[in-house]
Amino acid sequence: MTIKTNPSLISVRNTRLEDSEAIHEIVALAFGGEVGEPMAMSRPHIQQQLRRFREGQFVAVTPQGRVVGTATTMRTNKPPTATPQPWLKMIGGLELNNHDPNGQWLYGAEFAVHPSFQGMGIGRTLYEARFQFVKQLNLRGFYAVGMLMGYHRYQHRMSVAEYADKVVKHEIEDPTVSMQMRRGFKALRFVDYYNDEPLAGNAGMLIVWHNPDYRPMY
Ligand SMILES: CC(C)(COP(=O)(O)OP(=O)(O)OC[C@H]1O[C@@H](n2cnc3c(N)ncnc32)[C@H](O)[C@@H]1OP(=O)(O)O)[C@@H](O)C(=O)NCCC(=O)NCCS
Repeated sequence: MTIKTNPSLISVRNTRLEDSEAIHEIVALAFGGEVGEPMAMSRPHIQQQLRRFREGQFVAVTPQGRVVGTATTMRTNKPPTATPQPWLKMIGGLELNNHDPNGQWLYGAEFAVHPSFQGMGIGRTLYEARFQFVKQLNLRGFYAVGMLMGYHRYQHRMSVAEYADKVVKHEIEDPTVSMQMRRGFKALRFVDYYNDEPLAGNAGMLIVWHNPDYRPMY
């Protein structure tokens, strides 16, 4: 079921602990799972995320106050050119143990919009909020590994690495990575075995957005 909403009425604010149940449901359903899915963050994880880096956690909210999208971030000093690590190792678990308060880069740890609210511009709004945040903190940029969520439609025809190559060359549209590239992210490298996600052949694309306003601090 799709619920019609006007994206201009969606607001983005920092996550609060009481959003935990809604966030868990959004992440579980957006990745094709069910409520209770252990790898979908829940209240104890969100409590730790807020303790570590409250200002880096965002939710998208309807005018009625319903939380319909979520973005989890951390700071890192590991540059996007370093060898990529699998998702949980990179972030240090769902509690974001690897958040570095002095990190020069923002890293996208989780990002999802409730399936009933997808395709209406809420993801775009959450990206705008994070780009603004990177500028506000004067970070070098923002990077993440975008899961190749459309691969399952091509899995009988090509390997996930070939699929990734075609997505980067704009020959195939991927619902996640193509959208990220249109937001201004550059595809840096293919990342095999980033996370258990059968729809994406467990693989993703390392994508980077450089802060155009970054001023080096001496
Ligand atoms: C990826 C996701 C967060 C995007 O959020 P969203 O609110 O649906 O995105 P928007 O409505 O802002 O759309 C952004 C763009 O993606 C496109 N898009 C959204 N859903 C799409 C889909 N299922 N198939 C193809 N394109 C899609 C839109 O047309 C739009 O295109 P544009 O770049 O020309 O503007 C959301 O679809 C989602 O939760 N997906 C499942 C989980 C996931 O993949 N998370 C990211 C992991 S790295």
